[in-house]
Amino acid sequence: EMPLLEQCYNLMDFEAVAKRVMKKTAWGYYSSAADDEITMRENHSAFHRIWFRPQILVDVEKVDLGTTMLGTKVDIPFYVTATALGKLGHVEGEVVLTRAAHKHNVVQMIPTLASCAFDEIVDAAADGQVQWLQLYVNKDRDITKRIVEHAEKRGCKGLFITVDAPQLGRREKDMRSKFTDPGSNVQSGQAVETNQGAARAISSFIDPGLSWKDVPWFRSITKMPILLKGVQRVEDVIKAIEAGVQGVVLSNHGGRQLDFARSGIEILAETMPVLRQLGLENKIEIYIDGGIRRSTDIIKALCLGAKGVGIGRPFLYAMSAYGFNGVDRAMQLLKDEMEMNMRLIGAQNVDQLNPSMVDVKSLFNH
Ligand code: FNR
Repeated sequence: EMPLLEQCYNLMDFEAVAKRVMKKTAWGYYSSAADDEITMRENHSAFHRIWFRPQILVDVEKVDLGTTMLGTKVDIPFYVTATALGKLGHVEGEVVLTRAAHKHNVVQMIPTLASCAFDEIVDAAADGQVQWLQLYVNKDRDITKRIVEHAEKRGCKGLFITVDAPQLGRREKDMRSKFTDPGSNVQSGQAVETNQGAARAISSFIDPGLSWKDVPWFRSITKMPILLKGVQRVEDVIKAIEAGVQGVVLSNHGGRQLDFARSGIEILAETMPVLRQLGLENKIEIYIDGGIRRSTDIIKALCLGAKGVGIGRPFLYAMSAYGFNGVDRAMQLLKDEMEMNMRLIGAQNVDQLNPSMVDVKSLFNH
């Protein structure tokens, strides 16, 4: 018997239910990561090496979780990150996430490889609801240009160029399940190779030749803020600032690309002190994703200087298990958790979160 939605008390609970109820190919695609999945596990364990230094006797009767991301006001500092092939988990696909993002006033990042057509996902948004576009850059730049221009015309407020996937990682769990249904993806426009799992089937158009030289071209074709998703070291954060982009996502793609890549939270802890030293900390917005499952993970990221965090698999699992109501509950659980933990750490709002509130000694020395 399937557990009742009310019996899910945290984001991990949805994963357990999803594993039981999802089709094997879908579970394989969503849950898999690269090679030995060491990085995927590290995305969780890195948070376990950070401890809190709460401050006492702060009046926390009222707690405000709100912040801004790229100028958009949101109710809590997470966004729904881009995850391909939403219809593997739920017949309606990504629009389920659109509706939940609206209810909780958070931003949704639309994947290039969504199952729903891009316009369907934009049409599913409420008036004023903010969405961003995640971009896989096609070898055919005319296709990419059309996608970007169209997204801007439809009101997208941010362009997140994925830079950690010149070639798709080997996700063996996914490869083992022979994949036959790439869904109604309309944007890659390529013939698909279906005998190596979902990921390989849909990724052959991605340009491994993408380089820093291309950034000015993106600047020339759009007024949307440009962010690089998948930055993995402080040197590249500095290059990104020099290239004039508005932000970066410190991310290893949920452990699905380079195994033994470090966690976003560790890269953040490496990055911010260097940026502060160089006086660059206000030049861009820094986001992280990977392994965020608890509000304490969000709070740790904000203490260390992130503007917000992306969450991927938990919402896919909640959607696959329970549809809209699942994603709704997952987001509400995070809000309730975060309100409590802000009180316990002694912060009235996210601006008060700062590096003194965390102990990262064992993050690096373990
Ligand atoms: C992803 N991710 C991803 N990223 C991207 O830039 N383009 C994409 O198409 C996808 N697709 C995708 C599918 C699935 C099933 C997963 C799980 C992930 C990576 C995603 O944006 C994000 O970096 C990670 O999901 C964050 O880690 P968690 O929250 O899943 O642990």
